[in-house]
Amino acid sequence: MVKYDFETLRNRYSSFLSRRDAAKQLVKFWDNPPGPGVIELAGGMPNSGFFPVDTIDLHVVSQPFEERHSQNGLKVHMDKNEPKEMPLSMSLQYTNTEGMEPLLSFARKMVECINQPAYEGWDVCMTSGSSDAMYKIFEVLCDEDSTVMMEEFTFSPVISNVKLQGANVIPVKMQLSANPEEQGIDIDRLADLLDNWSVGPYKHLNKPKALYTVSTGQNPTGMTLSLAKRNRIYEIAQKHDFIIVEDDPYGYLFFPPYDTKEPMKNAYWDDKSLTVQKYVDEYLVKSFLTIDTDARVIRLETFSKLYAPGLRLSFVVANKFLTERIFNMSEVTTRAPSGVSQALVYSVIKEMGKRHSSEPEPSVESMVTGWLEWLMKVAGHYAHRRNIAFKALYETEGYKEGLFQVMEPSAGMFIDLKPCWPQGELSRSDHYDLITEKMDQLNQSLLKSGVQVVLGYRMAVDVKASKDTCDFVRITIAYANDDAQIIEACHRIGKGFQVFFSRM
Ligand SMILES: Cc1ncc(COP(=O)(O)O)c(C=O)c1O
Repeated sequence: MVKYDFETLRNRYSSFLSRRDAAKQLVKFWDNPPGPGVIELAGGMPNSGFFPVDTIDLHVVSQPFEERHSQNGLKVHMDKNEPKEMPLSMSLQYTNTEGMEPLLSFARKMVECINQPAYEGWDVCMTSGSSDAMYKIFEVLCDEDSTVMMEEFTFSPVISNVKLQGANVIPVKMQLSANPEEQGIDIDRLADLLDNWSVGPYKHLNKPKALYTVSTGQNPTGMTLSLAKRNRIYEIAQKHDFIIVEDDPYGYLFFPPYDTKEPMKNAYWDDKSLTVQKYVDEYLVKSFLTIDTDARVIRLETFSKLYAPGLRLSFVVANKFLTERIFNMSEVTTRAPSGVSQALVYSVIKEMGKRHSSEPEPSVESMVTGWLEWLMKVAGHYAHRRNIAFKALYETEGYKEGLFQVMEPSAGMFIDLKPCWPQGELSRSDHYDLITEKMDQLNQSLLKSGVQVVLGYRMAVDVKASKDTCDFVRITIAYANDDAQIIEACHRIGKGFQVFFSRM
């Protein structure tokens, strides 16, 4: 395996830094203690005796939606000495900006076990949610004259993040296909765009420095890039020398295929041979990291969708030079992510790890297994919700009348619905205004029927460039209280489409 030292990475990737970032110098006003025995009089850190919280006791469910006082749950205790490698006296204190070492070790092990990068010289840096990580990454990479590519529909705050740097965002065409091999970024069009940059639509801009992609269970389309596509995109990145920013909040929520004959079939619940290893090997799509021989991939993982968004805790995996730049940004902005969040995550995962360990102190491998077991349970519930929603949508009169299509996602928490326009309805004009106007009307009908959705065009990088494909609405299966609420919502969606089309 190719090994990069810090200097090689610095030489190779300095040219990717924004001019602002390259010029940044951190002012440090004290040095690390020279060794043990020195009395700390330097940092403005309150002694842990000043902290009002002495202990935290948690009851952790063994399953999502488990009853409140179930006996199956785990008990987790934290105090100023426990867990000894990351006690409250430490996690309530100012902590290492890059994250606390026990949690970093866990995150590194996760990466090694699931998405072992194809080079040596990578590291992990904790951040305060992937949103925070993205802000920092684009601050590190972008100047006013930089260009960043994104899937034509994307998690829109990222567009703002790049534009906040004054940089340019350009859309990359997607294939919105049910075929897993075709889904996501349209490789031929990406290659064509870059090969013919000087005569293409963006010739007035610099060639892209980065591609931002939500590679699995994409937001908002639910599409997943196949491994073959990832390989081709990587080759294109090598040829045109750009960084791949892989944002993957949904990858662990992978769906087994939907079976119309047995709509409630759920491999997470029914397949007795499903083990953690099988989940990793056969369900999860490998990250771009696994083919990253050049150290050009920045991967973002977050605890938001898998544990709780209120933690504001995530991590970035990248080459050591780039993680250091992100670290530097954190030093002068957020500092370390919340120590309480780190403690809540670490202590709970440690307890989960004990179920897979014969020792009282579980190894970091056992912790990874325990955590993955939880993720499978979460994914199982999402797969169930997907089944409930598909079945309910396909049973609506609106669907049976052919008023809308369901774009089946392969992972994550979103399902997109596409109106089936009557012949000629949109051909009066091919102007995008007409589509957005119609979609706004559909939105009103759906709202009147009692459901709130997101309009696809509002997640487009450039509505004009995506005018032929932006006519969808995004719904989420994540927030409903229970199956009944999902079914009721789907029923209302069917009604909303009927009302909308009856008025056309
Ligand atoms: C693609 C994508 N990235 C990042 C985020 C936000 O993640 P975090 O809560 O870690 O900031 C979301 C949340 O919806 C998302 O869809």
